Amino acid sequence: MTTILEVNGLEKRFGGVVAAQNIGVTVSAGETIGIIGANGAGKTTFVNMVTGHLPPSAGTVKFLGTNIVGLPPRRITELGLCRSFQVPQVFLSESVFDNVLMAYGIAEESGFSMLRPLRNKERDARVRKHLASYQIAEHEETAASALSQGIRKLLDIAMATVRKPQLLMLDEPTSGISVEEKFDLMDIIMAALREEQTTVMFIEHDMEIVQRHVARVLAFSQGEIICDAPTAKAMVDPKVVEFVLGQEYHVGIRSDA
Ligand SMILES: Nc1ncnc2c1ncn2[C@@H]1O[C@H](COP(=O)(O)OP(=O)(O)OP(=O)(O)O)[C@@H](O)[C@H]1O
Ligand SMILES: [Mg+2]
Repeated sequence: MTTILEVNGLEKRFGGVVAAQNIGVTVSAGETIGIIGANGAGKTTFVNMVTGHLPPSAGTVKFLGTNIVGLPPRRITELGLCRSFQVPQVFLSESVFDNVLMAYGIAEESGFSMLRPLRNKERDARVRKHLASYQIAEHEETAASALSQGIRKLLDIAMATVRKPQLLMLDEPTSGISVEEKFDLMDIIMAALREEQTTVMFIEHDMEIVQRHVARVLAFSQGEIICDAPTAKAMVDPKVVEFVLGQEYHVGIRSDA
């Protein structure tokens, strides 16, 4: 399997606060990985460092063999490592169609034309195909501001994937989404990514979603990876139970088994 990401000795200090330390992880193409951990465990800090949004205090990040530490986020995106943020990054006053069109413009054009990208049959067809993959075609004329949180998140992730990234990192894709919406939402996102053979790492607090969608779990606590294991194994790992899940959850799993 091709190694897609290789992180070694990654560390981040904010003054006296150690937000990340001794972070090492190797990811192969095609993997699905869940990043779990309590609030403040260092999950977002990790994603921010890997995607160039936060300079690490130490360590290396290799993406497809190239050290990407110090590269601006835009350059890292161009190399094929894309991400989403916890809060959707969409243009609220624009329609769903125009949002995805603009994402293509930003990915493929430069200068002033980016936000009013050229329209032609070929590009319109690509936008529509992408909307269909994320099951938001029926909303194409709706302004992003009028969408439900779940559909807006699908739009956000559709926009983050117009480049067909090789690795996609999602920061809490289901945060703020209702229980009724979030399972369907993740099914749609993961199906679209599978179709494109995109390697995916996502931060998630809901263990049902983690167990349904990822084969491997990275568990964070106090800035360190305390467990890196296949999902079923991670869910019963004593450290994960103690620092992430809590005993009650553990008992729940066991009685279901
Ligand atoms: N810009 C910053 N300045 C100072 N401290 C920070 C900064 N960003 C994060 N931290 C600290 O680093 C630690 C890790 O934060 P991080 O946001 O990575 O946690 P998280 O695991 O994503 O939590 P959550 O589940 O709440 O999103 C926390 O103690 C946080 O307060
Ligand atoms: Mg976070």
